[in-house]
Amino acid sequence: MFDSGFGGLTVARAVIDLLPNENLIYFADTGRFPYGSRSAAEVTDFSNQIADLLLTQHRPKLIVVACNTASAVALGELAARVDVPVIGVLRPGLESLLKVTVTSRVAVIATVGTIASGAYQRLAAQMAPQVELSCAACPGFVEFVERGETDSDQVRVLAQRLLAPLREAKVDALLLACTHYPFLARPIAEVMGRDVVLVSSADETAFAVQRTLRSLGQSRDCEEVGTHRFVSSGDADSFARLGRILLGSNGPELNDVECHPW
Ligand code: DGL
Repeated sequence: MFDSGFGGLTVARAVIDLLPNENLIYFADTGRFPYGSRSAAEVTDFSNQIADLLLTQHRPKLIVVACNTASAVALGELAARVDVPVIGVLRPGLESLLKVTVTSRVAVIATVGTIASGAYQRLAAQMAPQVELSCAACPGFVEFVERGETDSDQVRVLAQRLLAPLREAKVDALLLACTHYPFLARPIAEVMGRDVVLVSSADETAFAVQRTLRSLGQSRDCEEVGTHRFVSSGDADSFARLGRILLGSNGPELNDVECHPW
């Protein structure tokens, strides 16, 4: 599994909880974070490079792209290049969203790169043509989360401005289509109002991994708990510190972070 940084650990958590026997390697490209403001070509190059590294060093049976931006711009090329299944977060996220909407007016918020790629818009039109989808890029949200500022007046002001079109569109469900946005769930929920359900893609992605492994007959069905390794291309200590909070303090999973500078 890989992400541009620690945000994808929410997906790792869901996979570890659902499939505790599987061995997991999580690669955080913290040395080149963030992806959301980079060009599609650059994010695709990075994603290919990480997949090559994972495949040559660890020989995984499946790769999860736990980053919305990378899933949006690089998944197609990546899946065509490698000979193991590649699972992104877009389809699982949209599946969660479509499950909860009653009015069929839904919204997706994500980084500039993800929204500009048009990937959510295309996939939603394919999966549920009857649905009215509103999208909003939210530049600034990731930076607030990185600073640990998840509930300040400034976040609220920015959320009010960026989410205003979605309120006007009267959506009843909103997908947090960026690894960092679940941390801003409170201000986002306050701005959107009580009638809007917020969803994220982590759990549905874990179910997609489970389904794929089962259908290929590759589930690791044994008593033994899997190993969990974490690799960071940037500072390993800060990744471990932040990661422990995100992954939950009760898990033994994030004790050692290996460093892989490019
Ligand atoms: N992981 C990215 C995503 O889900 C957010 C952080 C970044 O911009 O790299 O889109």
